Amino acid sequence: MSAADQKSRLEALRKDVNFHNYRYHVLDDPVISDAEYDKLLNEIKAIEAEHPDWITPDSPTQRAGAAPSERFRKVDHPAPILSLSNAFDPDDFRAWAERVTRLDERVASADFVVEPKLDGLTVVMTYEDGLFTLGATRGNGEVGEDVTPNLRTIEALPLRVPLLPDAPQPPRRLVVRGEVFINKSDFEAFQAEQAETEGKVYQTARNTAAGTLRNLDPAVSASRPLTLFVYNIVLAEGGQVPGTQWETLEYLRDLGFPVADEPRLCKSVDEVIEEYGRWMEIRQEVPYEVDGLVVKINDIQLANDLGFVGKDPRGAVAFKFPAQEVTTTLEDIRVNVGRTGVLTPYAVLEPVEVGGVIVKQATLHNFDFIEEKDIRVGDRVLIKRAGDVIPYVIGPVLGAREKKLRKYKPPAKCPVCDQPVEHIEGEVAWYCVNAACPEQLVRNVEHFVSRATLDIGGLGIKIVEQLIDEGMVADVADLYALDRDKLLELEGFKEKKVDNLLSAIETSKSKSLADLIYALGIRGVGEVVGSALAANYRDLDELAGAKTDDLTEIEGIGPNIAEAIVDWFVRPGNQAILKKLKQAGMWPVAEPRAPLGEQPLDGLTFVVTGTLPTFSRNDAKDFIQRHGGKMTGSVSAKTDYLVAGENAGSKLDKAQELGVTILDEDRLRALVE
Ligand code: IVH
Repeated sequence: MSAADQKSRLEALRKDVNFHNYRYHVLDDPVISDAEYDKLLNEIKAIEAEHPDWITPDSPTQRAGAAPSERFRKVDHPAPILSLSNAFDPDDFRAWAERVTRLDERVASADFVVEPKLDGLTVVMTYEDGLFTLGATRGNGEVGEDVTPNLRTIEALPLRVPLLPDAPQPPRRLVVRGEVFINKSDFEAFQAEQAETEGKVYQTARNTAAGTLRNLDPAVSASRPLTLFVYNIVLAEGGQVPGTQWETLEYLRDLGFPVADEPRLCKSVDEVIEEYGRWMEIRQEVPYEVDGLVVKINDIQLANDLGFVGKDPRGAVAFKFPAQEVTTTLEDIRVNVGRTGVLTPYAVLEPVEVGGVIVKQATLHNFDFIEEKDIRVGDRVLIKRAGDVIPYVIGPVLGAREKKLRKYKPPAKCPVCDQPVEHIEGEVAWYCVNAACPEQLVRNVEHFVSRATLDIGGLGIKIVEQLIDEGMVADVADLYALDRDKLLELEGFKEKKVDNLLSAIETSKSKSLADLIYALGIRGVGEVVGSALAANYRDLDELAGAKTDDLTEIEGIGPNIAEAIVDWFVRPGNQAILKKLKQAGMWPVAEPRAPLGEQPLDGLTFVVTGTLPTFSRNDAKDFIQRHGGKMTGSVSAKTDYLVAGENAGSKLDKAQELGVTILDEDRLRALVE
């Protein structure tokens, strides 16, 4: 390539990388994979290494991260929040070790601390006299964004250190650095819930964490499963802190900070590489996403003496795992129908191995995603399999599209029942709105009987399908009209099985109104909204009469959910269900509320932990809400009471720590008498 060509290539690359930086850091919505991004950035680095005089201050190699958004107060970091250079394989890693040894021969006999590199977001937290006073994002490394209220909602974050009495006293001012992330299983559950309700579907746990942390409403953070690990001390004033990274981790743990498991102290480069091999084996098993290791020279003074290259300290390196991304051919796009009728597209792939597993299908999130990325059947597509999460399509490899492929069109009819599908203004999802759609019916009954709702045991998916096939169940209310003799005629149904099933159905009649509302499977109405509705309406008749304006008055219910509720109750099929439920005696009535303004638990916030003698978790919540109180999931300085039962765990410790009043079930009941 001529010098002129190389220079214009460099300019094009910079433009690209700056664009992708913005997508990733500011919009939290990347359009290429991390591996592709690294490739572009490495190409820039290579050209710049050859022509150092071409480096400009706006080159993406010259900054550590994103421009802070205008929406948050800016905070100056007390010291630069640096980034790390990468090693992509053992040879790269050895090259790093040799480079730093050449600079300072003390490295030859140095120890290394090897920590998992968590795939999350850097946060910087300040503690003054032990009290958490400020939390910021990294921003551009010099200036970050004040996200203190959002960080406060993270249970793992200690609001005061030390947490335990005989721990060391921290320096007067202590600034620590950590990573906010979401555990793999929590992310999976979150994705499932978002897909069922109208929530935004994020591509990765990392994007979800980023979007959440930079949301202006801390209630959003509180409702999402963010967690945290802390790994560095940025600054300590007015007190001593350890001189090695190994002791720092121990010290942070002693103070009460969450620290990642399985750091290792390695005595040599070979030992580090061995540890890298070990992590490649176990990385799928740890509950959080790890995209590599961070190797740090243990002696902090020595590491600092080595200085920096650009914004990367020489004394540490990110030793990345190979990407769990591959390309394969998209053979077909098919569509699933969910419980609430949401149509979800998925990819049928030419089978391909990713990280030791053969992948044949991957989620495509929603139809907008297919449109935005212009994914077409026949394309080569990049897929990612991260941890235990369902593999997903990142996008098409446009360069590999050879012939003209047809643009994908979402189906106009439900693939199961062939009825027209509908799109709701402002939402991404398409719905099959046919209440009699057999696929929805199976999912609906499954949800209606599940442990989280009415807990009708003995009704597994096979039996549900059997009852529907036999024509005995055409909606959820039919469960209450099942005939013992007819059941006995079914294949595989013996007396005992039938009696158990009927008695489980009978028992469900004593469930609460909140449980029943949740069980009906109204779009957007989960456990939380179900309880809120039950706290405001006496029974389903009263709720059926509610107008959208009444509903949006209730905390946690926006116009979309309100409309979905009203819409559900006006449908004749659903009215028939209600009539049958009432006739069958499946008609819970909420206990009358105290007159407004006089509720005994008004303004009080409760957390419930452990097993209570008679209340289930839901009963306790109903009880508290009915009397004007609020129940939240985690103990904080704002908690008024912790209701503790048997086997109470860390919430009890935290409540004691914070001086929160602790009640048992009897004393909770006594509060309202
Ligand atoms: S140390 C100068 N330790 O990885 C200190 N970083 O690629 C640099 N990260 O920006 C950070 N786990 O967001 C460090 N145990 C760990 C980490 C870690 C994840 C992230 C961090 C950093 C990025 C560097």
